[in-house]
Amino acid sequence: MGEAVDLGKVQETLLIPLYGRARDARRKRSVLHDTRAAEIVDGLDYDFSTFRLPNTHGSVWRAAIFDGFVRDFLADHPDGFVADLGCGLSTRFDRLDNGRLTWLDMDLADTIELRRKFVSDTDRYTMRVGSILDTDWYEAIDMSKPVLLLSEAVLLYFPSEQVTPVLQSISTAFGGALFAFDTAGTLMVQGQDRSHRDVPAQFYWACDDPADLQRYGLTVKESYSFTEPPADLARGWPLLDRLGNKVVGRFPMSKTYRFNLFECTPAR
Ligand SMILES: C[S@@+](CC[C@H](N)C(=O)[O-])C[C@H]1O[C@@H](n2cnc3c(N)ncnc32)[C@H](O)[C@@H]1O
Repeated sequence: MGEAVDLGKVQETLLIPLYGRARDARRKRSVLHDTRAAEIVDGLDYDFSTFRLPNTHGSVWRAAIFDGFVRDFLADHPDGFVADLGCGLSTRFDRLDNGRLTWLDMDLADTIELRRKFVSDTDRYTMRVGSILDTDWYEAIDMSKPVLLLSEAVLLYFPSEQVTPVLQSISTAFGGALFAFDTAGTLMVQGQDRSHRDVPAQFYWACDDPADLQRYGLTVKESYSFTEPPADLARGWPLLDRLGNKVVGRFPMSKTYRFNLFECTPAR
């Protein structure tokens, strides 16, 4: 019998990318080769049979793009500090650990409790209970090192009134740090088909142009979509993914879904 899954509505969404990575790992040709995700899926007592392929596989491409942000950061700063805010059951540390970095994975209490059934802290890897909407976690970020903050598929679940003060606060607290997160345009937020969703949570925050976030102290360094993934990254994907990615990327809705790397540049 696997571990029981008893998560809140937004927390349960972590199962979509987890299952996507596990399915991808079991393919003959895989994007992420995330066999650890497959082991975790096997260790859960949960019925994944209703999950739909486009949602789960889109999250594989998204994870690969975020991995690219981390790889590039580590190429410049191999001893850097990475914090994944809303990590879910992400296995990114296992995929990218270079033996030197320091990593913090943070999520809400029920998620971290489940995560601890599969993952343990080490001297360079720790987990912490916390909300990205609060500030108590700021003390855990080691600003004596180069810092990369990640928050993948988290902020979208909150309304703009909650998200924008958080962005302003983070950019002010972590001037000079990099911050990667995804944004979804109005078309995508309004076009969600709730009756066919894998899990009940839905997106609320719409951002049509990541450059608009400059007003909260975030300067766009890189921004991609499914239509325009980083060329060097997509070149290494299996042919089916390169084709599928182009097809999915043609839908007007998904064109507005962007994967962004910002620099925190608070106004002086
Ligand atoms: C769609 S999942 C993404 C998980 C992970 N980032 C990934 O891509 O595999 C959304 C995650 O946001 C987390 N979450 C929800 N509210 C949060 C909050 N206020 N602070 C931090 N994490 C939160 C959930 O527990 C869940 O793990």
